[in-house]
Amino acid sequence: MKYITVSEASKKFGINERRVRSLLKEKRIEGAILQGHKYLIPENAVKPLDRRIKGQRLFEDSPLKGINIDFTNYRKQYPSDDGYFGRYGGAYLPSNLKKAMDEIYYGYQTIAKSSKFISELREIRKNYQGRPTPIYHCQNLSNYLGRVQIYLKREDLNHGGAHKLNNAMGQALLAKYLGKKKLIAETGAGSHGTAVAMAAAYFGLECEIYMGEVDMEKQAPNVSRIKMLGAKVIPVKHGTKTLKEAVDAAFEAYAKEYKTAFYVIGSAVGPHPYPLMVRDFQEVIGREAKEQFLEMTGELPDIVTACVGGGSNAIGMFEAFLNEPVNIVGVEAMGKGEEPGKNSATMTLGKEMVLHGFNSLVLQNKDGTPGDAYSIASGLDYPGVGPEHAFLKEVGRVKYEYVTDDEAAEAFFLLSRLEGIIPAIESSHALAYAIKCARNMKSGSILVNLSGRGDKDIDFMLKKYPHMFK
Ligand SMILES: Cc1ncc(COP(=O)(O)O)c(C=O)c1O
Repeated sequence: MKYITVSEASKKFGINERRVRSLLKEKRIEGAILQGHKYLIPENAVKPLDRRIKGQRLFEDSPLKGINIDFTNYRKQYPSDDGYFGRYGGAYLPSNLKKAMDEIYYGYQTIAKSSKFISELREIRKNYQGRPTPIYHCQNLSNYLGRVQIYLKREDLNHGGAHKLNNAMGQALLAKYLGKKKLIAETGAGSHGTAVAMAAAYFGLECEIYMGEVDMEKQAPNVSRIKMLGAKVIPVKHGTKTLKEAVDAAFEAYAKEYKTAFYVIGSAVGPHPYPLMVRDFQEVIGREAKEQFLEMTGELPDIVTACVGGGSNAIGMFEAFLNEPVNIVGVEAMGKGEEPGKNSATMTLGKEMVLHGFNSLVLQNKDGTPGDAYSIASGLDYPGVGPEHAFLKEVGRVKYEYVTDDEAAEAFFLLSRLEGIIPAIESSHALAYAIKCARNMKSGSILVNLSGRGDKDIDFMLKKYPHMFK
């Protein structure tokens, strides 16, 4: 057996030496021996992660155990050339739109990989968006909850107040290079609509945003912002008048104008190449967060979590941690409960089908048609989910949990009161999950992607939870 020193183990595990010594004292590194004053650690030792809930394991020993995928090469292998993550993804479209997708994919593979495009986007990220966004240690919230340390990746501080601009600027820049004159987009919470309207103003393009009437009322401040930025908001008045119908309407409009317009899809959904492009434009979140967290704490977090609507902020956060011994948890909206039409818990309750041009998990009615989705969070009430999430669930690398409207609302108020940060109601779902874990764990750290700020939600929350404002 070959042995390594504490200092070598610290590098291997990505944690500081003090932490390695305390793990050794707790006898949590298998096979380690004490020789005189010196510890010897087996070369093949793994960093222990067993946090316990009241004597039970919260997670398996290693989040990578038993998974047959080499995550060092994952990004090169997934998706496949025709856009599949396992059997999820693809492009199920009429032939005219298939041609439009081919144009975008070719543009993405050539233009978006050129050094000119990359350096222009890098400049935008730094000087227009204000990246990198920081990591923040919530000391008050952590003290209030017990011994677990909660950290936030502050995407609420990204220009526009949400992660959505990372993707919108990337796609809009590609649209400009492809010579398109107009941006078309759907929006639920209005965060993506705002981001696309900002991108259109920045690049001097026309802009049309499709938004369900119910969401326009719930997220009125964002509707005003979009209009202020010079974009047109087109109300969608059919069905549940929320995100799914907004996507239907935006697709219809795009199908008529694809030669001169670009459809900026707002999440890691849609036909190939959108899930790939959106992931790549959002992966800046996790890349920054991992480096910042290591610098701040000397180790990796025990849990990384993010809310999942279509899944763009989550996939952007998770990518950098897939090959690390970190538990990754996506959190969806259980709304008012498990009955059909009362939640958006696609990963938990959905079944496989094609919706909006891609194969994934979808909430379904008994007759196999897409079911209605509901959540207090307009950005989460989509009946489908990005194909990469369906895949990562299936292979067991990412766990998907849910929280209810009321749990998310509690987190919304708690963070506002204890830290002076008003989170978006979407992000409050991930925070609510972190709070639940923290209440049950003895120690450890949780990194939450705070995907957006909650200014847009204040009036709605004031009406819905008046007692919380007293
Ligand atoms: C602040 C915020 N977070 C999260 C989401 C959910 O989207 P996604 O799952 O693509 O990150 C939205 C959607 O509008 C949002 O506005």
